[in-house]
Amino acid sequence: MPSVYDTGLPPGPFADLPPPTCALMAHPADFQIVWEINAHMSGRAGSVDVSLAHAQWTRLREALEAIGLEILVVPASPGLCDLVFTANQSFPMRDGSRRIVLAKMRALERAPEVLVVAKTWTQAGYLVEPLRGDPVFEAGGDALWVPGRRVVLCGHGFRTDRPALDELALAIDAPIVAFHLQDERFYHLDTCLCPLDSTCALYVAEAFSEADVARILQIFPQAVAISVDEATTHFSCNGASIRGHFLVQRGADQAIEVARSRGLVIVQLDTGEFLKSGGSVTCLHNVF
Ligand code: ARG
Repeated sequence: MPSVYDTGLPPGPFADLPPPTCALMAHPADFQIVWEINAHMSGRAGSVDVSLAHAQWTRLREALEAIGLEILVVPASPGLCDLVFTANQSFPMRDGSRRIVLAKMRALERAPEVLVVAKTWTQAGYLVEPLRGDPVFEAGGDALWVPGRRVVLCGHGFRTDRPALDELALAIDAPIVAFHLQDERFYHLDTCLCPLDSTCALYVAEAFSEADVARILQIFPQAVAISVDEATTHFSCNGASIRGHFLVQRGADQAIEVARSRGLVIVQLDTGEFLKSGGSVTCLHNVF
């Protein structure tokens, strides 16, 4: 039976995980900041330039298509201002089974997004299922597959509830390495940990306990720490390493230098309107 590791690490070897071929995105027509549910959003209500956001989203979509991903789009839904962050509502299995684990959002304001996303998956022929007991689970925001391996890294504390991880391990039949997040600016795991390849990741040391930093370095011996400043202003750890490319907010220089040294082709994008809401490249899509 797969387990959750709060200390130590699961014993390998781990089964292979095929590379993704598609990505889920949600149309940004209704993106705005109306509520404040993370530290980055505070004082930002009404500040989104909707047409600029649309242009930035379109450029990200084109960049994902250019590296060979097929895009499945969730239509915009009136009033669902955060729907555009499709990392959060669902967790695709990525093993060819066409199974999708549904999220449960912590904020009531975001709760209806899950049904909207579930409908898109169902229409595309995927099988959706919630976690048993319906614990709070913010999917790809807090659950990251290790590149190429059937093992998942999960954050909990600010959004995802720790009990959700036991249910997730059962649902996906894969071991989980759990991290109790420490700093509210890094409220999702995908804001402070970014796997680049099987031995290297970017991380923000201040977002984790010392023991968890040591575990990150065991999993990714070549991991490199990014400054809090760059990780909050440029969301460096929300960059995405996909198919030999690293897509990241323009100007995330520390992250770019590391990714380049790993042989990744750098694709710099402007996600400025979405940064105001506490999200960037990885939050805005969900690979499968
Ligand atoms: N405003 C959104 C929220 O606070 C941003 C979500 C960002 N998503 C992510 N995967 N980090 O829920």
